[in-house]
Amino acid sequence: MQSQSRISCGISRQGVLNNIAKYLGNVKTLLAELNFRRAKNWLYGLCAMCIYSILKIHNMIQIVDFIREYKSIKKEIDSAINRVLRRGVFVLGPEVENFEKNFAKYCGVKYAVGVASGTDALYLSLLALDIGRGDEVIVPVNTALATAMAVKMSGAKPVFCDSDENFLIDINKIPALINKRTKAIMPVHLYGRACDMEKLRALAKAHKLFLIEDCAQAHGAVWNGKKVGGWGDFSCFSFYPTKNLGAYGDGGAVTTNSEGHYKKLRALRFYGAHDRVTSAMFGINSRLDEKQAAILSVKLKYLDKWNQKRKNTAKLYGKLISNKNIILPKVNNENEHVYHLFVARAKNRDSLMKVLKKKNIQTLIHYPLLLHNQPIFNYKGRFANAEKHSKEIFSLPMHPFLKKEEVAQIAKILNA
Ligand SMILES: Cc1ncc(COP(=O)(O)O)c(C=O)c1O
Repeated sequence: MQSQSRISCGISRQGVLNNIAKYLGNVKTLLAELNFRRAKNWLYGLCAMCIYSILKIHNMIQIVDFIREYKSIKKEIDSAINRVLRRGVFVLGPEVENFEKNFAKYCGVKYAVGVASGTDALYLSLLALDIGRGDEVIVPVNTALATAMAVKMSGAKPVFCDSDENFLIDINKIPALINKRTKAIMPVHLYGRACDMEKLRALAKAHKLFLIEDCAQAHGAVWNGKKVGGWGDFSCFSFYPTKNLGAYGDGGAVTTNSEGHYKKLRALRFYGAHDRVTSAMFGINSRLDEKQAAILSVKLKYLDKWNQKRKNTAKLYGKLISNKNIILPKVNNENEHVYHLFVARAKNRDSLMKVLKKKNIQTLIHYPLLLHNQPIFNYKGRFANAEKHSKEIFSLPMHPFLKKEEVAQIAKILNA
């Protein structure tokens, strides 16, 4: 799970502000002493520091780059936002309906329901399936906090499963975790790579379990000719800004082929009220807003093209990185991975990350803390693969607007 504020830069905006504040504090003190000459020097220092910091941020190669994206579709985005403002309908209006229809079509399913976030999409799916206190849900141990937190929100217990060699839930280790309290499996198409949904579906069916797909990182990924989002009883998406299909704020959606599930979810996102007036069941307020839906409709048109750019970048990384200590993601079928993140492995990843940081290239670890180690879950268990990977993984810059020269620059540093 990442956020704009959560994304750590080599030199952060907060850092710049702190420096400015420090200098202003010094200037004030000096002026108070009427030492104008020294104060003037401090002011020059402050200006130089600001310019240097701005240039440094500007030149950084970032994990994601929202500004380049916005510039490329500015006219369409501005006009979509203006349309919403002029219409004066801000929540659950025509933009949401239109987006829901188009997103369902894109995923190859009958229904989509817009909600406030990916976390809510997961939580509401669990509520719709009456999963709660006393129940267990199997989730991967290496994923965003939100996957397991949604289970916790429902009152059920998340049961953690180890990763396979591709960082995905190890399907072979799931049967040993199933007992009479188990109600669902919640696989995550982590980093943008689709899980083997045929195997997972067969396993869920054999044990009479629900299957809830966490598609938050994999809009457009395909497993065996069929997009993610259409394999589970419910499939859950996040439109958090960093995602392959990201809003300019929070948002999420649940997709399903069941009319019954669809109707229940629409009620659950609106205080449990089927008709927006009468509520006969527990529900919450979790609505996608009109501005975000209008933005998402613009960006949905570009999703396949932008996913292709990500795939091209992944190929280029593969071609240019020759350092034998680095293990890069490999795919059998180009369509199964949409590279939400480009996660590599190396035993010396900490030193590689340090070198990249020095050269003004941002890297991150997804995720620095495996879920069983999160204090909130306080979970005992051994997860051999995930624990090994967590010491070696690091994410390189990956977004549709990354330039070939930038990929070459990163590869050169990694090969040195
Ligand atoms: C795998 C996964 N699941 C769920 C979520 C939750 O989405 P949101 O941040 O929109 O609540 C995220 C996003 O961070 C995610 O990466």
